[in-house]
Amino acid sequence: MTAPRVLVTGGGRGIGRAIALRFAKEGSRVVVAARSSPELDAVAEEIEKAGGKGRASQVDVREHGSVEGAVWRAIEFLDGSIDVLVNNAGVFEIKPFEKLDVATWKRNMEVNLDGPFYVTMEALEALQRSGQAHIFNIASRAAKQGFPGNVAYCASKYGLRGFSDALRLDLAKDKIRVSTVYPGQTDTTIFDKVPGTWDRAKMNKPEDVAEVVWKAWKSPRDVNVDDLDVAPRA
Ligand SMILES: NC(=O)c1ccc[n+]([C@@H]2O[C@H](COP(=O)([O-])OP(=O)(O)OC[C@H]3O[C@@H](n4cnc5c(N)ncnc54)[C@H](OP(=O)(O)O)[C@@H]3O)[C@@H](O)[C@H]2O)c1
Repeated sequence: MTAPRVLVTGGGRGIGRAIALRFAKEGSRVVVAARSSPELDAVAEEIEKAGGKGRASQVDVREHGSVEGAVWRAIEFLDGSIDVLVNNAGVFEIKPFEKLDVATWKRNMEVNLDGPFYVTMEALEALQRSGQAHIFNIASRAAKQGFPGNVAYCASKYGLRGFSDALRLDLAKDKIRVSTVYPGQTDTTIFDKVPGTWDRAKMNKPEDVAEVVWKAWKSPRDVNVDDLDVAPRA
């Protein structure tokens, strides 16, 4: 099997960066897409150093027009097909419901739910051309369970879970696998602005999530990798 051609949203840091580098190690061509160009450029360089071919692509997944352009450019770099799409870009904000405002609600829904829809829709034909395509939707434990102060985040991630479960059925005819990934707390910059005390040493490392994604991609195609829980051992 030749190294897969990969598109990772939110690939500039955290879990997305780790997934991009994991595939790069295997010689993949990888497009990393997000808003911050300097971060993306740095990861594209890391991809090259790791043995892959990297391309930075600026995108705001909240905007359909932006996604259209970015996915088109990604497909060009990936020679017309996408083997692995990782819908990873996301935001996480904790606000008790009485403090939840419309802007926060919308941001969560637009980045965490509209984004994967726009990206998958635009990538569909390139995924269909692959013959071995696999979509990873990076949800969260908050897609299975409520957490305090997480109304907007949980709603967006439960939504992503539903998107992923239904998408799997629609794309089965094209032999496209769809995995929903449910990471537990993972030590990334996402926690930098979240109020509260967090024991980062006890969290997953982004590389743990990346390894699970890589192994799922590598697994025989008749193995069930629909739901991937990645939790730090208690
Ligand atoms: N860390 C955890 O504990 C944890 C647990 C469960 C699930 N997750 C999920 O894992 C995913 C990655 O999280 P992370 O922890 O790696 O967070 P992170 O370090 O903050 O990275 C988030 C990535 O998403 C990108 N992004 C955010 N808004 C975007 C937008 N509008 N358009 C395009 N890209 C955007 C960011 O880049 P720009 O800001 O430059 O756009 C960044 O590259 C998220 O979906 C998150 O919900 C994380």
